[in-house]
Amino acid sequence: MKKVKVGIIGNGSISHTHMAGYKKLDHVEVVANCDINEQRAKQFAQYYNIPHTYADYNEMLKQEDLDAVSVCTWNNVHAPATIAALKAGKNVLCEKPLALNAIQAQQMVDAAKDAGKLLMVGFVRRFGLNTQILKRMIDNGDMGQIYYAKTGCLRRVGNPGGWFSDKKRSGGGPLIDLGVHMIDLVRYLMDKPKAVLAMGSTYDLVGPRSNIIGIQQYKSADYSDYNDVEDLAAGFVRFDNGATLIVENSWTQHIKRDKLYLELYGSKAGVTMEPDFEIYSERNDVLTDTKPFIDVNQNDFQPIFDKEMAHFIDCVANGTPCLNPGEDGVELMKILDAIYESASTGHEVIIK
Ligand SMILES: NC(=O)c1ccc[n+]([C@@H]2O[C@H](COP(=O)([O-])OP(=O)(O)OC[C@H]3O[C@@H](n4cnc5c(N)ncnc54)[C@H](O)[C@@H]3O)[C@@H](O)[C@H]2O)c1
Repeated sequence: MKKVKVGIIGNGSISHTHMAGYKKLDHVEVVANCDINEQRAKQFAQYYNIPHTYADYNEMLKQEDLDAVSVCTWNNVHAPATIAALKAGKNVLCEKPLALNAIQAQQMVDAAKDAGKLLMVGFVRRFGLNTQILKRMIDNGDMGQIYYAKTGCLRRVGNPGGWFSDKKRSGGGPLIDLGVHMIDLVRYLMDKPKAVLAMGSTYDLVGPRSNIIGIQQYKSADYSDYNDVEDLAAGFVRFDNGATLIVENSWTQHIKRDKLYLELYGSKAGVTMEPDFEIYSERNDVLTDTKPFIDVNQNDFQPIFDKEMAHFIDCVANGTPCLNPGEDGVELMKILDAIYESASTGHEVIIK
């Protein structure tokens, strides 16, 4: 079987999970990598034995005969790097969020169509076992009609700093960083209804709190404590199937401990998928709680990235329909844009 040749643009934290996923696939060869931080690019290449290294992705796309590219850069580089790769005839797996906003995201999808190439968005949590099991239950009708969802990812102190908290490079704070995963999961599990209305509020009253000592926290590769994004975002979204979503995300907040939750409520059953997977329903006139038995460590993220890379390569090599098409990234960006717009105007936003 002909090897699929891959290039990786952006060689910071998440690119290592992409690389680890590709390395597990016999028919994939990562032949080039690129980072504007030349030293980081060289170290990445040395560590993984990658033959060709670049500081400019346009040069990499011109020189290398690649089938596919992973885009693992700051958010503001997702659109230009992806569009350049698509125009150069490469298939692209772009990290989440697809872009800084829906306009850019749509341009990326259009570029994929024009080039006849694949654009997949890195909604990695769709590959989680809990997500896949719950999706199967929902598709089998076990929950009836889902009409209400609540989700959040809240941190007491967890602003990664650097580009993450620099709005012109990230597009925003915890909503675009963490909320993107949670809102996507809800949409995906509900069979991708279209959002028709959103309201939101954002707050920046606590600040990044880089002064806090005595805790472990993730800091971006090029850390600085510059911060012009929200600490907390709260949103209300209505979908065209009548369902409502309430979402909250924070990087810093005075709470006892960090929280991650996802709850769905249907006419036949309710479910919490996070933090624990439990189903609440009734059977023979008795309220019944069910706990699916899943014998894998849900906190180990590498296996779901492995599945994501394997699926991307399967789509590229075999034309398998893509689970995470770029179009889903556009829909997500429309929701995030609307929550941010509502937060700044104080009004509800109709989503077209
Ligand atoms: N799927 C997930 O769960 C997940 C988790 C973490 C991060 N991410 C996403 O991955 C992306 C990268 O995040 P990270 O944590 O790896 O950040 P990072 O800061 O560790 O790495 C980003 C890298 O991109 C490089 N870069 C910036 N502009 C570039 C350009 N023009 N050309 C080449 N390289 C460039 C930077 O120098 C840096 O090395 C972000 O979009 C983030 O949202 C996704």
